[in-house]
Amino acid sequence: MWEKVQETVKFLQEKGITTPDFGIVLGTGLGNLVDVISIEKRIPYDEIVNFPVSTVEGHHGELIFGELGGKKVLAMRGRFHYYEGWKMSDTIFPIRVMKYLGIEKLIVSNASGGVKTGFKVGDVMLITDHINMMPEHPLNGANDERFGPRFVDMHEPYDLEMAQLVRDIAIENNVKLQEGVYLALQGPTFETPAEYRMVRLMGADTVGMSTVPEVIAAKHMGMKCMGLSVITDLGVEGLVEPVSHEEVQEVAKVAEKVVSKLVVDFLARS
Ligand code: HPA
Repeated sequence: MWEKVQETVKFLQEKGITTPDFGIVLGTGLGNLVDVISIEKRIPYDEIVNFPVSTVEGHHGELIFGELGGKKVLAMRGRFHYYEGWKMSDTIFPIRVMKYLGIEKLIVSNASGGVKTGFKVGDVMLITDHINMMPEHPLNGANDERFGPRFVDMHEPYDLEMAQLVRDIAIENNVKLQEGVYLALQGPTFETPAEYRMVRLMGADTVGMSTVPEVIAAKHMGMKCMGLSVITDLGVEGLVEPVSHEEVQEVAKVAEKVVSKLVVDFLARS
C-alpha cells in the first residue's frame, strides 16, 4: 500500500493539493457541507490514481480542496463502506493519502441509529469513543512500520482537546450536543430490535456502518480525530421504528446545518 499511497499523494500534489490543515470525511447526507467550502479544486474519485470509486446513492465520490473557517481543508465527499464490497484497505486508503499530504487532524461525520434513552431523531452527537465490531480489522495482515506501529495505542481515539472545543462551540451557539460511544457494524441491514438491544448492552450509544476503520487508520498514523454523528433513527428499547435510507438522508439533511456551523466554528478556532 505504501507505494500506491505515495503515488496518489504525488498525483494530488501535482494537481495543486498542497498541505491541507484538516481532513474531513463527509458522511451520509452531510455531503453538502461542501456548499460552505471556498472550493479551489474538486477531483472525482474516478480521476484519482489508485482511488476506489464509490457507488451508493447519496454518496458523491470526489475530493474537495479548499478553505473553510480560514483553514485549508481536504474533504472526502463519499466514503468507501465495507458493505459495498470494498476491502478494508480501500476503506482506509484515502486516510493514508491524507496523512502523507501533510494532514495531522481528521474530522469525521456520519449518520447513526441512537440506542440511548433520551436521544432524539435529529440530535447531533459528539463521538467520544467507539467500539469496533466490524468483521475485519483495517490493520490486519503484515504491518508496514512506515505507516505506524503493529500494536496501536487507542486510549484516546477521539482527541480530548478537539472534543472540548466542539463542546464549547455548541454551548456558545445554543446547540444541544449529545455525546457518546459509536459502535460499528458491517451493515447493510439496519438492526433488528434484538441487535439494537445488543448494541446498547455492549456499551454503545449509537450504531452505524462506517467511521471506525477510518479512525483506526488515522490513529495508526498518529493523527488526531474529531467525530460528529447525526442520529437519524432510534433503536431504543420499546421505540424501535421502521427506518429507510431515504429517512436517514432526510434527517441528516436537516441536521447538516447544525453540523456545518459546528465544523466551521471549530476550524476557525483551531
Ligand atoms: N443502524 C446502522 N446504521 C445507521 C443507522 C442505524 O440505525 N442509522 C443510520 N445509519
